[in-house]
Amino acid sequence: MVSGTNFCRCVVFLLSVFIFLTCPGLRAADFWFAQITDPHVGVKYTENNAALEQVVASINKLPVDIKFVALTGDLVNNGADNVADMDLAKSILSKLNKPLYIIPGNHDIIAERAEACASSFKEYFGPLFFKKNCDNVMLYFVTLGMNNADPGIPGYQPLVKMRAAMLADPSKPKIVFQHIPPLNEWLNPNSEFGTPNQLGLWRLLISNYNVKALICGHLHRNQLMFFGKTPVYVGPATGFVGDTRQASYNIYHYRGGRLACVTVQVPDAVQSGS
Ligand SMILES: [Fe+2]
Repeated sequence: MVSGTNFCRCVVFLLSVFIFLTCPGLRAADFWFAQITDPHVGVKYTENNAALEQVVASINKLPVDIKFVALTGDLVNNGADNVADMDLAKSILSKLNKPLYIIPGNHDIIAERAEACASSFKEYFGPLFFKKNCDNVMLYFVTLGMNNADPGIPGYQPLVKMRAAMLADPSKPKIVFQHIPPLNEWLNPNSEFGTPNQLGLWRLLISNYNVKALICGHLHRNQLMFFGKTPVYVGPATGFVGDTRQASYNIYHYRGGRLACVTVQVPDAVQSGS
């Protein structure tokens, strides 16, 4: 026979378990997401278009619960102001059955046409900087000054935006998505990141506000590097550009502040002639 005291203890225990399981602030965040990067699609790039189609179909069929797909830039090859290419890209991506969060790369925002490209990209896919909350982990999607040839986007100050966002969520775990990994190549003399000091400031922000990882593209190959002590995951290209031999994308498992990453190659998207 259960005594009154034991019954109370049992109820308290069960209530504690219930609260632990249902309150996201008390249990470790645990979720999966996918990264597509550098598909470089366009009306003229039929192989790249087919590769993105197959990557989308592959993600839709994954047997894990993908919470969102991050596309980390170079969606199109010849600039986001090319309406035919952007219509095509949007049409392929509309087949994804997961939430899509997307930032542009240096092939979306072409240096000589930065303002027009940025304006068009925003019309198709929304703001250049935004944040999302996934299982109490803050996701920051940041369009950044691209490379040495990039004039920057008039009126757009990602460093200011990032600092304000991080001050608003100082201790929450974060994942930052940006197209170009924070290499010296990334220094842009015409933007607010144009000096080593500013790259250092970026490193300080990343280092001091509980950023668990940066997720990038641009290099068209898988690579793990570190920015200070923060891991930087560079994803493989979906499009056939440079050395890409097979369309690929990454899936990530975030659990309790750590990321595990695996690359998925799309078997049917082997480059013709290879
Ligand atoms: Fe690229």
